[in-house]
Amino acid sequence: MKVFLIGGNGQVGKHMVNLLQESEKHELTAMVRSVEQAAQLKESGVKAVVADLEANVDELAEVMKGSDAVIFTAGSGGKTGPDKTLLVDLDGAVKSMEAAEKVGANRYLMVSAFKAEDRESWKDSPIKPYMVAKHYADRMLRESSLNYTIFGPGLLLNEPGTGKIDVNNNIKKTSISREDVARTVVAALDKENTYRKTIHLMSGECTIEKALNQIS
Ligand SMILES: NC(=O)c1ccc[n+]([C@@H]2O[C@H](COP(=O)([O-])OP(=O)(O)OC[C@H]3O[C@@H](n4cnc5c(N)ncnc54)[C@H](OP(=O)(O)O)[C@@H]3O)[C@@H](O)[C@H]2O)c1
Repeated sequence: MKVFLIGGNGQVGKHMVNLLQESEKHELTAMVRSVEQAAQLKESGVKAVVADLEANVDELAEVMKGSDAVIFTAGSGGKTGPDKTLLVDLDGAVKSMEAAEKVGANRYLMVSAFKAEDRESWKDSPIKPYMVAKHYADRMLRESSLNYTIFGPGLLLNEPGTGKIDVNNNIKKTSISREDVARTVVAALDKENTYRKTIHLMSGECTIEKALNQIS
């Protein structure tokens, strides 16, 4: 699959870049925000394009042309205000979905947040504006024509991955390593049983392959 990765310079994104570069099944284009980031990726043989989620849909579609699948793992981060939450995590994400539809990249994998679909679960959260942005971006994705998979991981950690996860009703933990999120999303790219599904995701006890294959 020709995979277009949005957030290629992010912490989860960097793990995905490595996995997709190593993969024999996929061909990667990583989207980053600066020419310096793109140059660094190109030095290690990664195809990189420079674009910003605050650009318009046509500009995003232009760089996405020829892709089969889009992975969204960008985010405005905790250090910016609610304006960027709205512009990047919500509108940026939705514009990337519209761009994907426009270029016929009909597979779309979203790194969302745990239970973003359940307002009651974050009604008193200190990061409520972020959860609102994720909630509505995911809703737009469900209403799109795309073969989406929405991943809802808990707290993301920088510890090494274990390759073991739990999903949905099997979840016991509240966090997961960024490396395992990356592995799970990349492994799901061509799993049709994960199309049009929302998957809650935490560190756990099951191999990624087995956990994903059990999704129905
Ligand atoms: N932190 C958590 O515990 C948590 C929990 C659940 C879900 N998530 C979600 O998981 C995903 C990955 O998280 P992470 O920790 O890897 O995030 P991260 O390290 O902050 O990476 C986010 C990436 O998004 C890029 N970005 C920001 N604004 C952009 C824009 N306008 N246009 C294009 N790219 C832009 C950043 O670019 P630069 O490198 O240029 O800054 C960065 O590379 C995000 O969607 C996040 O919301 C996080």
